[in-house]
Amino acid sequence: MADIKFYSGESFPLEMHKVCIVQKLNLLPIEQRRIAIDEAGNNTFLLKNRDVYLDMLTDSGVNAMSDRQQAAMLVADDSYAGSETFFRLERVIQDIFGTRFFLPAHQGRACENIIAQVFVKPGTVVATNYHFTTTKAHVTLNGGSIEEIYKADALEITSDKPFKGDIDLEKLRALIQRQGAEQIAFVRIEAGTNLIGGQPVSLANMRDVHQLCQKHGIPLVLDASLLADNLYFNKLREPECRDMSLREITRTMAGLCDLIYFSARKLGCARGGGMCMNSEEIYKRIRDKIVLYEGFLTYGGMSVREIEAIAVGLEETMDMDMISQGPQFIRFMVEQLVEKGIPVITPPGGLGCHLDAGAFLPHLSQAQYPAGALAAALYLVSGVRGMERGTLSEQRNADGSERYSDMELLRLALPRRVFTMSQVKYAIDRIVWLYEHRALVGGLRFVEEPELLRFFFGRLAPTSDWQDRLVAQFRTDLGDSL
Ligand code: F0G
Repeated sequence: MADIKFYSGESFPLEMHKVCIVQKLNLLPIEQRRIAIDEAGNNTFLLKNRDVYLDMLTDSGVNAMSDRQQAAMLVADDSYAGSETFFRLERVIQDIFGTRFFLPAHQGRACENIIAQVFVKPGTVVATNYHFTTTKAHVTLNGGSIEEIYKADALEITSDKPFKGDIDLEKLRALIQRQGAEQIAFVRIEAGTNLIGGQPVSLANMRDVHQLCQKHGIPLVLDASLLADNLYFNKLREPECRDMSLREITRTMAGLCDLIYFSARKLGCARGGGMCMNSEEIYKRIRDKIVLYEGFLTYGGMSVREIEAIAVGLEETMDMDMISQGPQFIRFMVEQLVEKGIPVITPPGGLGCHLDAGAFLPHLSQAQYPAGALAAALYLVSGVRGMERGTLSEQRNADGSERYSDMELLRLALPRRVFTMSQVKYAIDRIVWLYEHRALVGGLRFVEEPELLRFFFGRLAPTSDWQDRLVAQFRTDLGDSL
């Protein structure tokens, strides 16, 4: 995005795109939102889109597409085998990552399913800067376990550390010594580390991890789903990247890894996924599973229209104007909230703005699901839908006791090029109002609790009449039209 100096002295990011297609939104009066959140069991995953004003649940599959992506979708070559569309994407991947082989899959977790089946044996360990929900599920399903080897400052909510996603090399060394290299299925680096607030990994750290892995013969896997945000921060915050092009940074990173996979619902602003690698041996081991789970090698569970969109979207990702929009809007939102004293993850990362629900609602214990309660409360007072990333998103321990999450976060994702500045300002305004009335927000308890991935389908209820009191206060202060 252009670095514009405003005459007024104000500072805010300027969009380097124009809007070509729009979709109408609804902003329901708060009383109707009260009914909607009740019907959704206080779980924002269960809200209907028609009841949501700003959908900040995720950036997955909902990034705005460019005119060039839409155009490419019209000329896709559909066939079971040998699709020209597939070869176009393969060429783009080979060019951007500099890798020899590419294999398609229908989304990120489909890659994780196959990678876990190929590499993880019962009793082995996957070491990672931080887990992602679906990654962990696939590793444990195959009898392995996850060992997080983040640096001490990774979980500090308020920080000025530029690369909180970096791996702690000492922890990795100690793990190798303790387990033996052969018991480590692979080391996984997640770019733009999702669950700690979209925090980036430095190229320097990747190089160090690569050297250690090489020395011990451990495969290094990069989850590049959030690579676009990570690249923006490498360019901005890492001296050695300042004079490198985005392509050079990407190729250098890729050259350090044995396997790269991504969700194209995030990277490339479309819907799909894929894996790329240089080793023919790894390619062949994975290839056989693709035909079993995803489809033939030239579509891998994706529509050819989406494959065309990914090819163009990945090319467009190699442009600072394009990849800076998300992080710059997020920084604006974070800085405005910090100024108002609202607890939020710093430094600003990619993906979204992360409210620290633990500090926002200090009167609630983790057993009352503060991040879930904050998600429900924010929807009530704004129509903004965020995602709980706290204890609700964890699975109970084997003995049925709660596993309290490291952090209680409410993630407000900013899908790329979707929201306008005034919509972001509206969200900030409602968060500030809610913060000033935070004492009104109470906890949640389960009414229906599924055993697996309970955050998707679980239904909850408020532990008191706090939602009625919150609605009444809002109506008095700011009641929107009925
Ligand atoms: N890896 C990372 C870092 C992710 O953020 C995701 C998805 C996946 C893998 C799985 O990819 O959804 O295409 O199967 N993250 C979404 C989110 C769901 O909302 O953060 P997928």
